[in-house]
Amino acid sequence: MAKALDGVKILDMTHVQSGPTCTQLLAWFGADVLKIERPNVGDATRGQLRDIPDVDSLYFTMLNHNKRSLTLNTKHETGQQIFTRLIEECDVIVENFAPGALDRMGFSWERIQTINPRIIYASVKGFGPGPYVDCKVYENVAQCTGGSASTTGFDDGPPTVTGAQIGDSGTGLHLALGIVTALFQRETSGRGQRVYCAMQDSVLNLCRVKLRDQQRIEKGPLKEYPQYPNGHFGDSVPRAGNASGGGQPGWVVKCAPGGPDDYLYVIIQAAVWAPLMRAIGHEELIEDPEWATPEARLPKLEQAFAMIEEWTMTKTKFEAMNILNPLNVPCGPILSMKEIAAEQSLRETGTVVDVEHPTRGHYLSVGNPIKLSDSPSEVRRSPLLGEHTVEILRDVLGYSEAEIAAARDQGAVGSEA
Ligand code: COA
Repeated sequence: MAKALDGVKILDMTHVQSGPTCTQLLAWFGADVLKIERPNVGDATRGQLRDIPDVDSLYFTMLNHNKRSLTLNTKHETGQQIFTRLIEECDVIVENFAPGALDRMGFSWERIQTINPRIIYASVKGFGPGPYVDCKVYENVAQCTGGSASTTGFDDGPPTVTGAQIGDSGTGLHLALGIVTALFQRETSGRGQRVYCAMQDSVLNLCRVKLRDQQRIEKGPLKEYPQYPNGHFGDSVPRAGNASGGGQPGWVVKCAPGGPDDYLYVIIQAAVWAPLMRAIGHEELIEDPEWATPEARLPKLEQAFAMIEEWTMTKTKFEAMNILNPLNVPCGPILSMKEIAAEQSLRETGTVVDVEHPTRGHYLSVGNPIKLSDSPSEVRRSPLLGEHTVEILRDVLGYSEAEIAAARDQGAVGSEA
């Protein structure tokens, strides 16, 4: 079946996580992603957090599906000629090097545009223009500078980073949207453009509701936060523990048998107060004016969740969920990664996939979470280092066998393949 991005060629200069997340998505949608890696070295993640000696790590394999790998020294003269030919042939160039790296290779945006005016040049950087524009950034730095860490964790604890990679993968997602939007605009303008996503900006975009709360706190306490009414509010948004970020109060409650992940997240949506109270055996509170309205409950949320917890502790998280779900109570079990890996429904939708790899054997990965009815994504294993060097030089750039051999002999391309 045809794919949404069939015919789109991506010159993929990405490494680590943020850029590869973006180009992997584009590859799942059908783009031909040509991953450029340094000869003999490759993306640093190939060798990071290895679980099997001398085999591409899960870090690398899980972020580089459906791509082709070309090893090319872009600082070598012949390498730069090949790179220039690739810019001519591709629709998009994506990179997430430290600031200025591509310019230092001799490829400024002005030069890239001159080589191919239709190309879209997309970058991830830590920061946008400003005092930190030159800084290198990894995930947790972005979480800290984008407002996530200061608003995550418990009131009496330090700022906390989240396990969700909102700085890296979150920015990669933003960049992918920027790229397809620029491709769409090119249909009418005929021109490429620069796409730039700063990790700080992307994290802040995901923390939008906290900037909302910053403006609300100037008008009075945030009544849905656990600090209300007895705790202390300063002049900036505090950490809200497990409180819900939306207008409906939520919290995690313990379940049987009391293991580290035996919890259920429960939201006391106003519309389901009555069935929820009936289910937990507190029918007397349904009409009680001290409890019956969301406003009356706000100062007593801790007590409300304690009552719910008394009930959930008599059930497993799945039993509690199965009782509350038919009552339309919004809730969800805290799932461990072990449980997610075993979850059959995620396998059936292709969200969790079993991938075969020539050197590591089988491994689990996350498939494309975006499902298109006319452009289904199959997950193909990540490329070995330089696996497609010859194929790309020959088929994409039209190099002869002799030219390929010369480039290899000079060290402009790798000799892995
Ligand atoms: N041929 C020749 N040289 C190559 C090359 C190739 N194919 N690919 C990369 N290089 C060079 C780069 O040009 C750069 O050289 P320079 O320092 O002389 O300019 C060098 O390799 C290393 O690149 P750099 O990006 O500086 O890597 P790093 O390991 O020092 O830093 C990051 C890693 C992630 C901190 C940095 O790339 C960064 O801040 N990126 C932007 C933000 C980002 O995406 N962070 C999240 C990562 S998940």
